[in-house]
Amino acid sequence: MFPRGRKLLLGVAGGISAYKSCDLLRRLQDEGFIVDVVPTAASLNFVGKATWEALSGRNVVTDLWSDVTNVPHISLAKESDLIVIAPATADLLAKLAAGRADDLLTNIVLASTSPKILVPAMHPEMWSNAATVENVKVLKERGFFVVEPAEGRMTGSDFGVGRYPDTVKIIEAVNKSIQQSADLTGKRILITAGGTREPIDPIRFIGNRSSGKQGFALAMAAASRGAQVHLVTANTDLPIIEGITTTAVETAEQMAAVLAVEFPHCDALIMSAAVADAKVLNYSDIKIKKESLGTVELDKNPDILKSLSQSKKAGQVIVGFAAETSSNESALEKSGFDKLSSKSLDIIYVNNVSGGAIFGSDKTEGLIIDNQKNVIKVPEISKDTLSDILLDQLVSKLG
Ligand code: C5P
Repeated sequence: MFPRGRKLLLGVAGGISAYKSCDLLRRLQDEGFIVDVVPTAASLNFVGKATWEALSGRNVVTDLWSDVTNVPHISLAKESDLIVIAPATADLLAKLAAGRADDLLTNIVLASTSPKILVPAMHPEMWSNAATVENVKVLKERGFFVVEPAEGRMTGSDFGVGRYPDTVKIIEAVNKSIQQSADLTGKRILITAGGTREPIDPIRFIGNRSSGKQGFALAMAAASRGAQVHLVTANTDLPIIEGITTTAVETAEQMAAVLAVEFPHCDALIMSAAVADAKVLNYSDIKIKKESLGTVELDKNPDILKSLSQSKKAGQVIVGFAAETSSNESALEKSGFDKLSSKSLDIIYVNNVSGGAIFGSDKTEGLIIDNQKNVIKVPEISKDTLSDILLDQLVSKLG
């Protein structure tokens, strides 16, 4: 889901890399943004107003004293869903950190409540100067997102950190920022993470390789989109996420008990935990001696998802996960469809975990299948990115 039709403001400060923002403007338009360009007076020495008007297809206002009847700094600040300043020079960073407003761009920034992305680009010595470092720190603390400059050759023969970053990096930051709009505000989302353990005795257990990274990434993404998240973790080793209600469990039965209480009150359940399909039949509460360790008898665990989906109310959305060991895409798809229908799910993410893949990794790859038979092939991406893609699907099912 792309942010089609969103209005974005591109501020351009006076650095030689201003010409690279001509390409950035084009790529932002490719992403469906309507872009208003606000160049500073100094930047017009590098790229002129006519270029920005021709590329953006929109009028370009360059100072506070033109088009006064429309109060451009207030109207542009209000209309823009996102502000990107590229390049952001050392002088502009200093002005923003000081809260100054002596030209159109700095007035807009002060007047806007939208997310703001800064793309600093300058000579390495200026970037590493203590004043700039301090200004960037202050701006980050105030919520500006900073796309770090790249390392490489500068305009002259110098080398270092301070180059205008790859356009792809800026587009990624823009999409992330837009997706993190509050489209889950007021929604209660129950998410499971990790892998359940079934004890054999007080020392030993039967477990699985799930790290919980996907569930945590989903919880973080859902919370940053405004959801009220309850995360149920099973044997994860990840730091607790501030502001998210977290309940830790060990076994499948404990997880089932927590979810039975919480499920009726949620708008969506995302079951990313790997739940043990079986438990140990005769748990011993004292350590089983080595000599007595023979066959471990198992008994089937309840299928949590299957039973919860039977009590699903209208409007509730359920997302399941399936870890398979098949590299054959059509087999993977078939098993995804089978589980989606047998567990009455709205969406399932199915992936191939053979050879130790995906479990514990920051990356994932698989198929998203929904109850309308749509299949989205997900190439190797980060678990954070998958979280946003899955949440986009979930939002569309929530209506
Ligand atoms: O059938 P399979 O275990 O592959 O299904 C995976 C999905 O079902 C996951 O979303 C998992 O959390 C859930 N599950 C469950 N209860 C079980 C086993 C799996 O809810 N006992």
